Amino acid sequence: MPIAKFPKRFLWGASISAHQVEGGNHNQWSVWELEHAKSLAAQAKYQYGDLDIWDDIKEQALKPENYVSGRASDHYERYVHDIRLVKKMNMTSLRFSVEWSRIEPDEGRWSSEAIDYYKRYVAELKKHGIEPVITLFHFTLPVWFAEKGGFENRSNIKYFVRFSEKILSELGRDVTYVITVNEPDVYAYESYYLGHWPPAKQSKRALYQVTANLAVAHNRAAKAIHSLNRGYKVSVAKNSNYFYAGDNAALSVKSASFMQYFQDDYFLKKVYKSCDFLGVNFYFSNRVYGYRVHNPHVQTSDLGWDMSPDDLEHVLEHLYRKYKLPLIVTENGCADMSDKKRQWWLSRTILALQRALAEGVDVRGYLHWSLLDNFEWDKGKWPRFGLVEVDYNTMERSVRPSGRKYAAFLKKVGD
Ligand code: FCB
Repeated sequence: MPIAKFPKRFLWGASISAHQVEGGNHNQWSVWELEHAKSLAAQAKYQYGDLDIWDDIKEQALKPENYVSGRASDHYERYVHDIRLVKKMNMTSLRFSVEWSRIEPDEGRWSSEAIDYYKRYVAELKKHGIEPVITLFHFTLPVWFAEKGGFENRSNIKYFVRFSEKILSELGRDVTYVITVNEPDVYAYESYYLGHWPPAKQSKRALYQVTANLAVAHNRAAKAIHSLNRGYKVSVAKNSNYFYAGDNAALSVKSASFMQYFQDDYFLKKVYKSCDFLGVNFYFSNRVYGYRVHNPHVQTSDLGWDMSPDDLEHVLEHLYRKYKLPLIVTENGCADMSDKKRQWWLSRTILALQRALAEGVDVRGYLHWSLLDNFEWDKGKWPRFGLVEVDYNTMERSVRPSGRKYAAFLKKVGD
């Protein structure tokens, strides 16, 4: 792996989210899983049958249990051990999310048990010198909030703002970095337009409404958090993949730039003024021919996602030029059960970070998705994103070879 000069205090680490790793959650998503596990299993061959790894995953992908988070990675019980692992792997930061449905299980009723849990969690990170990056909404909602219409109703935003204020005033200044909303437009698109995720609506109107409401939710929550203390550094985690023209045709060039604009700026221009930095989630690139996206099958991950880690550089440069805010890569990684590609991915990514820095882009951190294998939403447990492998039968953890390489790189970069 390349050794480079990175800024002092650069946040090096990994990302997880509550529902994907904790286990034992009861929220709008866990309810939906139970209702849909059978049909997701029944569609698996149609959905994933063309993937290169189908033969390796089919046994798991055809079982309804795969689509139920259940104990997930049992991180709720094992966080002390997992945080020790973060430290052992020489990381200096961990991004995680607090589960709103645990903290406010019924409207207006705060669970002191859950709040104490997250206080202990943050204290454990701090004890090891690991900087927490906390996310408030990572796709899961309390059932009561979803029943009120979730983020589709503008009048519900006040509940999210109240929750944001509550949890941050409880956690205090042990936390500095706060992500209000994870991938707002991915959530709106999957849940309200494609109908793949709860509440599985298929409505253009709802898509625009939810996207707009999430921007308002971010702005109001950021304001509330900043009035607790202006020292908090608040952002969203914005999905930003890279669009580029696959040929020289003027139409391809034009539509690639429109797609980039639509993906990034449509949302960001509504929120960037209340951001202290921008969180960026980068997973793949899209080649645009005319009006269509077509990715050549060069190198793909287990999920069939195009792997172009070098393009992270372009995404960072574009966002920095436009918004002039410091950037933190809040997610980036690949599903790779054999762990044959992850190390390459990481090396290329680190080089891309270096190039962006050399171009003057103010990048302050890199958080790999993911620390642990985890529950990948409607796809369930077969996609393996972890630097650390989880055996779902025993819950035993083993650091993958790529995780060891990352740890060795971090040791050198920290010296
Ligand atoms: C992102 C999500 C994250 C994880 C990765 C693979 O869109 O934010 O929770 O599922 O994709």
